[in-house]
Amino acid sequence: MRILVTGSTGQLGSALLRQLKGSNDEVRITSRRKPEGMGDFTWVYSDMLTGEGLEAAVKDVDVIIHTATSPTKSSRDIEITGFENFLGKLHHIQHFIYPSIVGIEEIPFNYYRLKYEAESLLKSSNIPYTIVRATQFHGFVENLLISKPLFKRYIVPGKMKFQSVDVNEYASHLIDLIHQIPQGRTEDFCGPEILTLKEMANLKIKVNDEDNRVLSIPLAGKLYRSFTEGKNTNSMGKMGKIKFEQYLKNKLE
Ligand SMILES: NC(=O)c1ccc[n+]([C@@H]2O[C@H](COP(=O)([O-])OP(=O)(O)OC[C@H]3O[C@@H](n4cnc5c(N)ncnc54)[C@H](OP(=O)(O)O)[C@@H]3O)[C@@H](O)[C@H]2O)c1
Repeated sequence: MRILVTGSTGQLGSALLRQLKGSNDEVRITSRRKPEGMGDFTWVYSDMLTGEGLEAAVKDVDVIIHTATSPTKSSRDIEITGFENFLGKLHHIQHFIYPSIVGIEEIPFNYYRLKYEAESLLKSSNIPYTIVRATQFHGFVENLLISKPLFKRYIVPGKMKFQSVDVNEYASHLIDLIHQIPQGRTEDFCGPEILTLKEMANLKIKVNDEDNRVLSIPLAGKLYRSFTEGKNTNSMGKMGKIKFEQYLKNKLE
């Protein structure tokens, strides 16, 4: 089997690469920057924005795990226009695996709207696909919302809820799909527990034995409300095992 992983320098892409090392499959990887420590993988430069390098990246490939993404910069051009252009080059592909995000149709956030639109593009293409939505990664929530205290306080919209998931478990789930037939939109892949951001910040303080406190502030607006209502969670999804606390402990090792 010949596999292509796009977005090979990203959080999910790197997790996939770590686990695909030593695989019996032939693995090609693509991104704009060359990843470090890429072992035996063949790296091809490609740009989802301009389309440069995509033909070479997808040539003779059987399965694609498409993790290339751009949540903040040129998002529409990459998630939709670039994505449509990419799909147009994939008539030979046996299985296109698309990681997506839980709750995107209910959360008023531009990037999530684009992901939802991209899911529709994929569904209406003739490409055999599997869409697997996941909840936010542990590291993503930590880096975005509780990376650094200010004056010994984590100042956070503490009522936001997350069911964060370990990126390595999600990567392993996607790799399992490579040798399965395309599933269409499949079961969501979620973290093992739903926590408020305040609880997550307090766990970080406890695990790291920090001399900080949490200051929870309310935010206004529909986006904040959708996260406090847990629209980004799914307690019926397939569950990873690694909790946020364990993720934090693993980082200390
Ligand atoms: N982060 C989360 O919590 C989360 C949760 C659920 C699902 N997901 C989904 O998982 C997937 C991967 O997310 P991630 O967090 O791993 O993303 P990420 O860390 O932001 O990585 C994005 C990747 O896309 C590549 N990229 C960006 N712009 C590009 C362009 N113009 N052309 C080609 N490659 C480009 C980047 O590499 P270069 O800059 O080197 O090109 C990088 O390898 C996405 O579909 C995301 O929606 C993420």
